[in-house]
Amino acid sequence: MQTYLRGRDMITTQEFTRDEIDTIMDVAMDLKRKRALGLPHAYLRDKVLAMLFFFSSTRTRGSFEAGMAQLGGHAAFIESRTTQIKHGDTTTEMGEIFGRYFDGISIREVTWGQGNRYQREVAAASRVPVLNMQCEIYHPHQILADLQTIIEKKGDPRGKTITVSWAYASSYSKPQSVPNSLILLMNRYGMNVRLVHPPEFKLPADIMDQARENARKHHSNFEVMDDFEAGITDTDIVYAKSWGPMLTTLDPEEDKRITNQYSDWIVDQRRMDMAKDDAIYMHPLPADRNIEVADEVIDGPNSVVFDQAENRLHAQKAVMALTMS
Ligand code: CP
Repeated sequence: MQTYLRGRDMITTQEFTRDEIDTIMDVAMDLKRKRALGLPHAYLRDKVLAMLFFFSSTRTRGSFEAGMAQLGGHAAFIESRTTQIKHGDTTTEMGEIFGRYFDGISIREVTWGQGNRYQREVAAASRVPVLNMQCEIYHPHQILADLQTIIEKKGDPRGKTITVSWAYASSYSKPQSVPNSLILLMNRYGMNVRLVHPPEFKLPADIMDQARENARKHHSNFEVMDDFEAGITDTDIVYAKSWGPMLTTLDPEEDKRITNQYSDWIVDQRRMDMAKDDAIYMHPLPADRNIEVADEVIDGPNSVVFDQAENRLHAQKAVMALTMS
């Protein structure tokens, strides 16, 4: 077990070893137990986390803020539009200055081609950890919570099949960060990963290469499919959500035209029944209800979305306690 994570940035789980991620899982489970028992766990007393948002959030904001308070510290909610960023604060200035005020800097910036670069540049200038609250490429804290949920629900994940599928949504063009992060992490835990999407919704080539390499190293399977129902059949975990066709087009009208061709990619009960009897349904939320997933599935007995959302709190507290203490 590798326990020394102090000072580390969490931008992608790819930069953490299996031993280090095992430590995060172990601490997350311990913190969950302590909260259930009402045991104090103020590991970050007097520490302050900056939470810099360029994009809206419900779960991420709530869980980071509550998590810092439960760890004995404080989280400062900062929206980019109410800062001087658009009047010229550079990433170097943000890293240097916030690194002197705060004990950690968390950032959500999902703009295609900008979000990850912004986080990397702030991290390069910061003396304190930068925690990725989602960029256009990665959503590491979501995926750590997802791994915790899978271990809780399924036990040893080795040999289990997870279907990471595209699904239709009409609300807005969502980042690729969740599927990218899922295909990078889950086969490091011995899971067989099925990535399912229509041809226009490809994920970046470098992410695919890393996912294949992870699968090879960990003796798991990584399969790419374009048949929604075949992808769900006999799986252990249905994780189906929408993402945008950014690698095909950045034009909003063309995006809509392409996306609307696949409006039947909804997880309904008939499709959920194609998975194993004890398969679980996962979604990071928010979901487009009755468009992306039917109410009967997301509210049904196989859905674990509320436990999944809860685990954001515990997994993030583990990362904060380990990196910011
Ligand atoms: N899953 C997730 O990141 O939710 P929010 O966008 O509400 O933070």
